[in-house]
Amino acid sequence: MKREQWKSQMGFLLAAVGSAIGLGNIWRFSYMAYTYGGGAFLIPYITALFTAGIPLLILEFGIGHERIGSAPLAYAKIRKNWEWLGWWAVTFVMFGIVLYYVVIIAWCLNFFILSFNLGWGQDPNSFFFKEFLAVSDSPAHIGQIRTPIFLALIFIWFMNWMIVYRGVQKGIELANKIFMPLLFILTAVLVFWALSLDGAMEGIRAYLTPDFEKISKPKVWIDAYSQIFFTLSLGFGIMIAYSSYLPEKSNITRNAFLTAFINSGYSLFAGFAVFSVLGFMAHSQGKPLADVVSQSIGLAFVAYPKAVSMMPGGNLFGAIFFLCLVVAGISSSISIIEAFTSAIVDKFGINRKKLINIITVLGFLGSVVFTTQAGLLWLDIVDHFLTHYGLVVVGIFECILVGWFFRIEVIRKHLNRISSIKLGGWWDFLIKYFVPIVLVIILVGDLKNEIQKPYGGYTWTSLILIGRDWVLLTLIAAFFLASRPWKTEHHKSGGRAKE
Ligand code: PHE
Repeated sequence: MKREQWKSQMGFLLAAVGSAIGLGNIWRFSYMAYTYGGGAFLIPYITALFTAGIPLLILEFGIGHERIGSAPLAYAKIRKNWEWLGWWAVTFVMFGIVLYYVVIIAWCLNFFILSFNLGWGQDPNSFFFKEFLAVSDSPAHIGQIRTPIFLALIFIWFMNWMIVYRGVQKGIELANKIFMPLLFILTAVLVFWALSLDGAMEGIRAYLTPDFEKISKPKVWIDAYSQIFFTLSLGFGIMIAYSSYLPEKSNITRNAFLTAFINSGYSLFAGFAVFSVLGFMAHSQGKPLADVVSQSIGLAFVAYPKAVSMMPGGNLFGAIFFLCLVVAGISSSISIIEAFTSAIVDKFGINRKKLINIITVLGFLGSVVFTTQAGLLWLDIVDHFLTHYGLVVVGIFECILVGWFFRIEVIRKHLNRISSIKLGGWWDFLIKYFVPIVLVIILVGDLKNEIQKPYGGYTWTSLILIGRDWVLLTLIAAFFLASRPWKTEHHKSGGRAKE
């Protein structure tokens, strides 16, 4: 069967951007900037973007395009016994990250609906934790499934299914061609609206005032590198699968630069809306900004609803905000499902549509635990382990595999032959030495923290049984999948470059 292809380079670019722009851009970046030196944070952030983010994105695009395959196939074509690495990436994202990521999208969908009549009432904090999630006291107490979350989850999985089922061109490409412009317009509305609120400038000042003192701390640099890594969806196997659907003549390096710039530009831009609203809230309550600022879910599901309730016409503002999250979220979750699907199709030649039906059902069932009363706790633990260990380890091995066990010039020359921005020896250097060293530093730092005290105040038992074992089980599954015999002939052919 012929490999599917994007209709246009633009379609590919929008899909890559759709994967990169996700929940992380809206609530993670701006908070980081604020705590890590405001405008000065742009120095580590942009450094990380150029020295690790873009080079790795080029590498992933390059591997997928040159080897013409999803992560496991592409790695198998580089070195036979490294196939597991590709399987691991696509397995822990499909049977890990995406399972709780869709549940967060389901919360956003609920809050989108609640916005219309400010359904969170007077006390959004207790509404979110006590009524909506009804969080239990420990991960071992699963409690009940939360019906509104469960119902929204069905809808979100249905959307994912529908898009991926329709294939690369008619599904993913088309969805992103609608979603991305929609997201940019909605975000622009939010930003300009937010900037017009009283007190907005106070918020912007806090967001951007440079504090150079702060960026002298190593932690700030380490976190900037981790953020770049996560925000560009690196180490997920997604960018490899997406670029494998490109035609021979494709301007790969330019697309990598564009994807990275649009993604970071979006984060920076959305930060204006986030901080204008916080400034407005501080101003209306007569409190210092530091008292109203919060991060991640606290920002989206507590601080924002509070602000929305105080704003004239806030219902609409809230609805637009949560719709942005839903749209940004779905365009990322479909990319994960596609990365896994294409891996299975490449190796086992299973009918794509049938496979997607099965994956959707399995994914849905796997998500259910995150809709229970212990859902938030499970999500927190699984996310911590997979993003800290899965992604980083895959990134390290990816650089080692291509940089040391393969002639990296093959990929570089291939890219230079077809792309407008030419890579020099600096790129080899970054992939062979610099990026893996940075990632190892991040990994060692994380491991050190891990053993010093239990993450998030959970018991060791729950961290081990839920977090560590999730990582191990996906690794075992990866080795198992890698050990199965090939049902297709793809692995026998080489890449596009004449080696
Ligand atoms: N880049 C995404 C974000 O910032 C990360 C992600 C990609 C998460 C794909 C899930 C799926 O949110």
